[in-house]
Amino acid sequence: MTKKISNFAEYFQKYQESVNDPEGFWGEIAEDYQWHKKWDKVLEWSFTGPKAPDVNWFINGKLNITENIFERHLPERKDQIALVWEPNDPKEDVVNYTYGELYEKVCQFANALKGLGIKKGDRVAIYLPMVPELTIAMLACARIGAIHSIVFAGFSANSLSDRIIDAECNLVITSDGGYRGAKSISLKSIVDDALKSCPTVKHTVVLKRTGDDINFVEGRDIWWDDFIAGVDTKNEAEVMDAEDTLFVLYTSGSTGKPKGVLHTTAGYMIFAEYTFKNVFQYNDGDIYWCTADIGWVTGHTYIVYGPLLAGATSVMFEGVPTWPDAGRFWEIVNKHKVNQFYTAPTAIRALIVHGNEFVTKHDLSSLKVLGTVGEPINEEAWRWYHDVVGKGNCPIVDTWWQTETGGILITPLAGITPTKPSFATLPLPGVQPLLVDNEGNELKGNSVEGNLCIKFPWPGMIRTTYGDHDRCYQTYFSTYKGLYFTGDGAKRDEEGYYRIMGRVDDVINVSGHRLGTAEIEDAINQHPKVNESAVIGYPHEIKGQGIYAYVTCEALSADEADSIENDIRATVNKIIGPIAKPDKIQIVSGLPKTRSGKIMRRILRKIGEGDATNLGDISTLLDPGVVDEIVTGAKVEVKR
Ligand code: WTA
Repeated sequence: MTKKISNFAEYFQKYQESVNDPEGFWGEIAEDYQWHKKWDKVLEWSFTGPKAPDVNWFINGKLNITENIFERHLPERKDQIALVWEPNDPKEDVVNYTYGELYEKVCQFANALKGLGIKKGDRVAIYLPMVPELTIAMLACARIGAIHSIVFAGFSANSLSDRIIDAECNLVITSDGGYRGAKSISLKSIVDDALKSCPTVKHTVVLKRTGDDINFVEGRDIWWDDFIAGVDTKNEAEVMDAEDTLFVLYTSGSTGKPKGVLHTTAGYMIFAEYTFKNVFQYNDGDIYWCTADIGWVTGHTYIVYGPLLAGATSVMFEGVPTWPDAGRFWEIVNKHKVNQFYTAPTAIRALIVHGNEFVTKHDLSSLKVLGTVGEPINEEAWRWYHDVVGKGNCPIVDTWWQTETGGILITPLAGITPTKPSFATLPLPGVQPLLVDNEGNELKGNSVEGNLCIKFPWPGMIRTTYGDHDRCYQTYFSTYKGLYFTGDGAKRDEEGYYRIMGRVDDVINVSGHRLGTAEIEDAINQHPKVNESAVIGYPHEIKGQGIYAYVTCEALSADEADSIENDIRATVNKIIGPIAKPDKIQIVSGLPKTRSGKIMRRILRKIGEGDATNLGDISTLLDPGVVDEIVTGAKVEVKR
């Protein structure tokens, strides 16, 4: 077994090794896995030209990722708990799965999928709440080589069907409904709605979770329990090439509809486990909990694949942090004696508001490591997390990464890298970041700020965007020649520590969820009375960024004017889902545009930030008068 890095000097030594001899570095780590056939060469790659990233790791290696979760660990971990499932309602029973039990469930479901004719390379959409069956379904897909496309169960029917159509899925795995705090959501009816426009889907498998009535479509729908009844629990894993696709996960960008980020088998596997073990300094016997939803990449890599590949015990939580009360996270930490806890800054900020008693009344002495992900963490939230939750005893790992990166790239190693509030600190071994100016010139040395790029491949990186490679090339590899462009801005301070400043493109980060402003504008524009809209992110105390929409409309009657804001929110809710509903909507008579018709978002952003002191030269705008109108009617207090 590759040893974890255990001190700061060793980190620098490993980092150097990984840069001097990347193939030797990752090749040695790859020796720890079960291969049907070893690779011929560790890496071939090119970040230039329209095929970029033309990256192949572990060329001609053959394996199955689930054999590396199960068969590799079963001799010593058959009876160890793999998954602890904490239900939404604390009165409901916890369900534990040992590695042995989870293995049988996965194999059985894999056999059932094969029985339905699902085979290697087929795409399977999974639209489930945070129940153990979600983990079982995804691993069963991986077992037979089917490509899972998990869609967060908060997305609308329209978003779900877009994703199903794009990936041409032939099966959807869902449930009657799901619980989130005091609410229950009828997922099956959303699926029914979505499937009206998805001719490729032949079947749905429906898990019973809430017991709500569903519209059961004979011939298409199959109950989960019937699907697996009497099915064998032994399964021989599909032998996959190292570069065969493992999964697709849709994410928003600055243009167009969300794209399917595609990850492959061996590189992702190795990167997920390596980063998990090193970042969180997981030790055998520890209880680890990541509060993300498996519908996002954090859940893929750090609830399921990373921890289970590492033979860890991973907690999975169905509910929300504030129900039945704002102490739920801490009650769970105490109940399961959680050692490593990984959450998002937005959750921390939401809990701060409720006061410290919700934390202090629970015994949190089991905690050793705290983590954050998804957005920059502000210093106040960092301090509260450190002092109130961690009692000053737990290092915080502020982990920077993306759906496209597959796993964490820039982060402290828990208890090893000295931390600084709001700094993601240093790159992991194998990760070679750099900052460039807008012309693509590298900003060398320390105390610089620029666009964050990566110049060398790491095993867990994106290979393509599903069905449209050019989009992958254009989005990530064409802006700065020969570099992967992250879309984030960052500073490197006097010590060489990285601080992520946020997106420099038209992507906003709302409660840690990525949304393209264009995507939200498209949804708003579908309202029949809307002519045009411009969406920006503005600083929001809890969500990090809130959504501010400037909208121009056709003439409205008095009634329509009263209801237009809510109607627009309802439209966005229907088209994307509740996470994309604008926080503020300002109806304006015009948008600030250049003479060539381009919307000047820079001006809107400044006003949205509450600062109209220096809007730059607005005299070249088509209609400079609208700026005054926007400032006067702004939904935030604006300094002029
Ligand atoms: C942001 C989530 C600051 C960043 C794993 C990135 C962060 C986007 C951090 C990716 C962090 C993620 N500090 N910003 N520690 N982690 N981000 O694809 O803007 O949902 O580009 O992946 O979140 O979001 P995604």
